Amino acid sequence: MGLLIIDAEKCKRDGFCVRDCPTAIIRLPEKGVPEIIPGGEATCLDCGHCVAVCPHDALSHKRIPIEKSPPVREELRISEAQVVQFLRMRRSVRHFLDRKVEREKIRKLIEIARYAPTGGNSQMVEWVVLDDKARIREIAGLTVNWLRELIKNPQVVAASPYLPVTVASWDAGNDSVLRDAPALVIAMAPREAMNGLVDLTLALSYLDLFASALDLGTCWAGLLQGTMINSPAVKAAAGVPESYPHHYPMMVGYPEFKFHRLPERKEPKIMFA
Ligand SMILES: Cc1cc2nc3c(=O)[nH]c(=O)nc-3n(C[C@H](O)[C@H](O)[C@H](O)COP(=O)(O)O)c2cc1C
Repeated sequence: MGLLIIDAEKCKRDGFCVRDCPTAIIRLPEKGVPEIIPGGEATCLDCGHCVAVCPHDALSHKRIPIEKSPPVREELRISEAQVVQFLRMRRSVRHFLDRKVEREKIRKLIEIARYAPTGGNSQMVEWVVLDDKARIREIAGLTVNWLRELIKNPQVVAASPYLPVTVASWDAGNDSVLRDAPALVIAMAPREAMNGLVDLTLALSYLDLFASALDLGTCWAGLLQGTMINSPAVKAAAGVPESYPHHYPMMVGYPEFKFHRLPERKEPKIMFA
């Protein structure tokens, strides 16, 4: 069996699959149905465009079967106003309820994040999940230790005046680093991942946006990220293997507050060059 499985009765020979294949490995012979060009299998990205673009349900793919590719439900499409409000409503959550996040919900978040695009459809993003509050607090403490060293340098303080404030707040008993989050989700990618940091950032953005649908809130954990980049010990403590240079942590939990308005941002600087 080849890579493509064509239902010859359904195929209209419109060539959409041929034209939309990103690596141009599908051809339409003068007679018959679409087929993979000789040697083409090796460059197939497994992106499923050929399956998705066929309006006749005529094409399946050995690794992206049509049965596992549900049809787009037109009735679920959302309006521009809905999309705009949805995107503008996403906010960083820094106050979490003292409530554990069900692992099933964490799995759901990660499940949707895998539909984010990845360079070459490489899909090499992996996940570490910490959901023990004591352990998360410990990692926040290790981050503060690193910040204490950092703020000895006046240039650092001049560039990031909030860092001494973060340390002082920690010393006053607040988790100013990981906000007492009940869960920490770390997206990571191994050294071989060519677009590792971009891919995992996109995946985390999907997770971030999806969280509200599960009544969850998130916050990008930039202070921990900076510390993990500079301290192999903290990176190891967070559970990220040494061979994974690309990573980013995100706090996850049930938000204490709701947001009722959509504040303005800076005007974009745009240059049509
Ligand atoms: C890459 C990145 C790192 C961030 N790191 C932190 C952080 O360590 N602590 C924190 O409280 N907020 C952090 N934030 C949240 C930003 O401060 C926040 O996104 C920004 O103020 C805009 O607010 P909003 O996310 O509610 O729209 C981070 C955001 C991003 C995108």
